[in-house]
Amino acid sequence: MSSALPATLPTPRGLDEADQRFAWHPFTQMQEYAGNPRLHIARAEGCWLIDQAGQRYLDGNASIWTNVHGHNDPDLNQALRQQLDQVAHVTLLGLNHPTATALAEQLAGLTGGALPRCFYTDNGAGAVEVALKLSFQYWQLKGRTEKTGVVSFVGAYHGDTFGTMAVGERSAFHARFNPWLFPVQHMPVPAYAECAGRVLKSADGVAELQALEDLFKKSASRLACLILEPRVQGAAGMQQQPAGWVRRVAELCRRYEVHFILDEVFTGFGRLGTITVAEAESVVPDFLCLAKGLAAGYLPLAATLTSESIYEAFLGDYSSGRTFFHGHTFSGNPLGCAVALASLQKLRPLLASGRPAESAQLLGEGLARFADHCNVHAVRQLGLTAAIDFGAAAGEPAWHLDARTAYRICLAARRQGLVLRPLGDAILMVPPIIITPAEVRHLLQALQAATAEVLH
Ligand SMILES: Cc1ncc(COP(=O)(O)O)c(C=O)c1O
Repeated sequence: MSSALPATLPTPRGLDEADQRFAWHPFTQMQEYAGNPRLHIARAEGCWLIDQAGQRYLDGNASIWTNVHGHNDPDLNQALRQQLDQVAHVTLLGLNHPTATALAEQLAGLTGGALPRCFYTDNGAGAVEVALKLSFQYWQLKGRTEKTGVVSFVGAYHGDTFGTMAVGERSAFHARFNPWLFPVQHMPVPAYAECAGRVLKSADGVAELQALEDLFKKSASRLACLILEPRVQGAAGMQQQPAGWVRRVAELCRRYEVHFILDEVFTGFGRLGTITVAEAESVVPDFLCLAKGLAAGYLPLAATLTSESIYEAFLGDYSSGRTFFHGHTFSGNPLGCAVALASLQKLRPLLASGRPAESAQLLGEGLARFADHCNVHAVRQLGLTAAIDFGAAAGEPAWHLDARTAYRICLAARRQGLVLRPLGDAILMVPPIIITPAEVRHLLQALQAATAEVLH
């Protein structure tokens, strides 16, 4: 008799109890979580999450910014099943599998072959750690041992491992770990904002570029790399940069011989209307970090792409010590690679269809209407990324951190059939790339109702 599967899953009530007893959820104050209704997602299809009772919720968070073609997509499912019938996992440490090679070739095409070397990992922080370590080691191998410094930006978020915390903003998330973080120079970003194609806060970014050039003039000989989330800093609350700014940062890096690391973990794979911002801005970084949407939100897969010349610096006899000693058990997992290949095949036609752009415009136009609310301080939207900053009305005392207003709006949104995530007093909207205009209208109506319920 087969006993491969548990006979029954816990009932909804049993699940609440088991979750309460055994779980520790990421980025979650568990005391607060325990005091609120839990949501157990049992199934999903397209842009919709379905709980055990059959209630449907629009996935306004794209399962933490990953989902591209929707859940349970037949093509991706088929690619996954086909790979599963071949092999579920093969290590890339000294071995290879054909699906990893096929995907690496496709990823090289994203930069027209300029970054042909693909180093696989399995999450965004891993992809960034690899870029940082490769940059550091490269300069050592080239004899430029003084080039160890890192430049990042105010508001940056690159992950929660020590290296990525160090290069990220020392925010409430990470400031506690400051004593263990290596020093990084955090430079200002332009204060730019747009929504539905209308510029709400204009900034050309010239002063920030000048500050960067001043820094480079003084210290480029001691700097290994600069890392940037291009166009939208997601975890900063969807803070935007003006078009063209990324390219000018890239030019400065090139001129002053500082490696340019583009962290497209969030912005890649259609989020801003193109497969990458690098493509949209005609920029070739030294390292391109990809994760989240790479395997369409199905499986953990990440990649750091780099140039042939950087790769060649690591070649030598074993005894030369040039080897890059870094790897993860599930780097380049075949199941993830198979889904990523199938996803890429569908992504260009999806973007070319104009539907993501239409949905993004509708999202921006709908959110712009929230701007008149007395508790709305700002609204931003670019592609399928958006945020509303909530706060006290003019003349009212500031909201206490524990009021958790945006969190309460998200809980209310669930009752309207919408899953969202707050960030402090902001609410972030990051739906799957496949979202339809009708689904955007549902998102807007549900958010409107939830906001009215909590803010009266
Ligand atoms: C720009 C950026 N880089 C890196 C990461 C870290 O990715 P992961 O959570 O897969 O480690 C994130 C996650 O939100 C991100 O937004």
